[in-house]
Amino acid sequence: MPSPASAFEFAPPERIVFGPGRVTQAGTLTASLGNSAMLVTGRDLRRAEPVRESFRSAGLNWVEWVVAGEPTVSEVRAGAEAARSLGVDCVVACGGGSVLDAGKAISALTPQTGDVFRFLEIIGLGLPLENQPLPFLAMPTTAGTGAEATRNAVLTSPEHSLKVSLRSPNMVPRIALIDPSLSLGLPPGLTASTGLDALTQLLEPWVSCKANGMTDACCREGIPRMVRSLGKAITDGQNLEARTDLAYGAFLSGLALAHSGLGAVHGLAGPIGGRFQAPHGAVCAALLGPVWRANVETLSRTTPGHLALERYRQAAHWLTGIPGASINDGLRWITESVREWQIPRLSHHGLRVSDFSELVRSAQASSSMKGNPIRLTDEVLSQVLAEAY
Ligand SMILES: [Fe+2]
Repeated sequence: MPSPASAFEFAPPERIVFGPGRVTQAGTLTASLGNSAMLVTGRDLRRAEPVRESFRSAGLNWVEWVVAGEPTVSEVRAGAEAARSLGVDCVVACGGGSVLDAGKAISALTPQTGDVFRFLEIIGLGLPLENQPLPFLAMPTTAGTGAEATRNAVLTSPEHSLKVSLRSPNMVPRIALIDPSLSLGLPPGLTASTGLDALTQLLEPWVSCKANGMTDACCREGIPRMVRSLGKAITDGQNLEARTDLAYGAFLSGLALAHSGLGAVHGLAGPIGGRFQAPHGAVCAALLGPVWRANVETLSRTTPGHLALERYRQAAHWLTGIPGASINDGLRWITESVREWQIPRLSHHGLRVSDFSELVRSAQASSSMKGNPIRLTDEVLSQVLAEAY
């Protein structure tokens, strides 16, 4: 199943350091970026303790910035002002996807003279960054968004009820330091939702109309690893081998989505996350099956020879482990896994049926939707929401 597109560009982090125990290198790697750092963490300050230890050993100066949840535009603006006034040389983020996005946005905004709205897509002017971002080191503690490999930071604007991206080719982290042991002990619910986000970020690029040979390689490697280890890590949070597979899969998902886009799952998940307090991974997981069904039905009806259908068949094989599995077998695996791992339905997050039309309108305008293998009508997207409701 070679990709029809032979031309591509691929821009991974300059340096990728992967493996259990590698967090001990945080200090020396950060020292290679500058003498003083801003360390961005989440609410659980203990999680970054191994990073501080490594910083101390390397003799680094650092200040800390805490992000409580999904970062807002005003939070990263304040973080960048602090980094600027303190004169830090580089930014390090250690945490889940929200923390990495916050650190990435702060590193990008600190050297700019213009306000963040000059650079934000959709709700801002979407202009290119004026100056190079500060060097950024990303250290994920969940296997989820793959933000350690991407060139955008997702920010929430409560005033607009939207999640939008700050995006630039220069925002790829300088160093991705991925230590799977940092995710040991993550609770089962969070392991399931973040892992299913990463799996979605491999399945959507796999069938994306913008797929290329490099992203295909990421998906071929990542999907089977996520599938074989997600259940194990949910059942036994201390299983390092499973955590290592998930961390690698999530990183590959970031590489894949950054270079071939996503699809209708993320197209819908963006506006839902902007308007409701709903964890991104759980929303993606709830939408994954319904979007799979909608895409396959639309492709089969309108373009039965479409390459994406063959790719859905291959994905079904990876998901079920059964050679020759049908597309419907793949869908059944998703439906059963989502149920077994207790992913809540969309109604759990406070959505109402009367919200559907506005969510569909925003989804159709999103950048993620451009990767979907076939155009889905508003009516079909409403049906997807109803099925996930
Ligand atoms: Fe995602």
